[in-house]
Amino acid sequence: MKKVNLAVVGATGMVGRTFLKVLKERNFPINNLYLMASKRSAGTTLEYDGKEYVVEELTEHSFDKPIDIALFSAGGSTSEKFAPIAASHGVIVVDNSAQWRQDPKVPLVVPECNPEDISWNSGIIANPNCSTIQAVAVLKPLDDKYKIKRVVYSTYQAVSGAGVAGWKDLEDGLKGEAPKKFPHPIAGNCLPHIDVFMDNGYTKEEMKMIWETRKILHDPDLKVTATTVRVPVFNSHSESINVEFENPVDVEEVKKILSEAPGVVVVDDPAHDSYPLALDAAGTDDVYVGRIRRDESVDNGINLWVVADNIRKGAATNAVQIAQILAESMS
Ligand code: A2P
Repeated sequence: MKKVNLAVVGATGMVGRTFLKVLKERNFPINNLYLMASKRSAGTTLEYDGKEYVVEELTEHSFDKPIDIALFSAGGSTSEKFAPIAASHGVIVVDNSAQWRQDPKVPLVVPECNPEDISWNSGIIANPNCSTIQAVAVLKPLDDKYKIKRVVYSTYQAVSGAGVAGWKDLEDGLKGEAPKKFPHPIAGNCLPHIDVFMDNGYTKEEMKMIWETRKILHDPDLKVTATTVRVPVFNSHSESINVEFENPVDVEEVKKILSEAPGVVVVDDPAHDSYPLALDAAGTDDVYVGRIRRDESVDNGINLWVVADNIRKGAATNAVQIAQILAESMS
């Protein structure tokens, strides 16, 4: 495979640092590596593969040099301004922010679900929301088999999804200190409030799950609803997913389909108290599904419990997988 010139924008952040870990673990074929962040951390160094790299300030001239792929995780406003600049220089941006996800010219990709969408990019590819990625990894093979009619999401999301400040609020809260990032204490609490509230009463996180599920599954009219909740867990999001299908569904067959689905691991042995857990998922790249059972209140419904590391599969790993496909296509 050809070695690529790669930029990581937001390299000092929680997702940015995980990009570097995942790139190394996967032996990503790097020629030149450029680490970029804000002026605040310009001049500091980060290690990659045993070598120190100086972090440079992201500016309008950062992409004047030859760069093939840029992984962005530096917030929506940074992506809004700098992703088009990078793309205009021939860079393919894989963007972790929400900025471009609903743009019809921007593919929204989970490699296990819709890798074919990568090919129609015009310089920017969006990485979906963390909660959406783990959900669709499980829903896609079931949609292919039974055709989904309606989805109800209820999430239990880790504080790492709110960045370093969210993590610190839980650490400090466990010591009795007041929150700085969240509007209420997160220690010993559940906050049904992730991202901002919208006019329809949903939070933006809930609407992201709805919009993004439809876009990735290529079904703009799919009936989806969501309640997203921040819980006092450091890492890994857990989700209860209720799915209703057009066609009759068989629980044993669902287990078989999911056990064969790429990137998905079935953990479902109630007799031995075995089901997906946030602590077990943390630090891994798979999506875990269990508690697979019929929804007895409808004809063709099932309930699922889905857990994944939100910083890895929910962000960094998914973006690196997209970059791997791009790198292969450049060879
Ligand atoms: P910096 O460390 O210089 O602030 P997190 O979400 O974990 O806090 O990480 C956010 C990442 O985005 C950090 O690497 C941060 O860099 C970077 N970042 C934030 N604002 C900008 C900006 N205006 N230009 C470039 N990078 C930015």
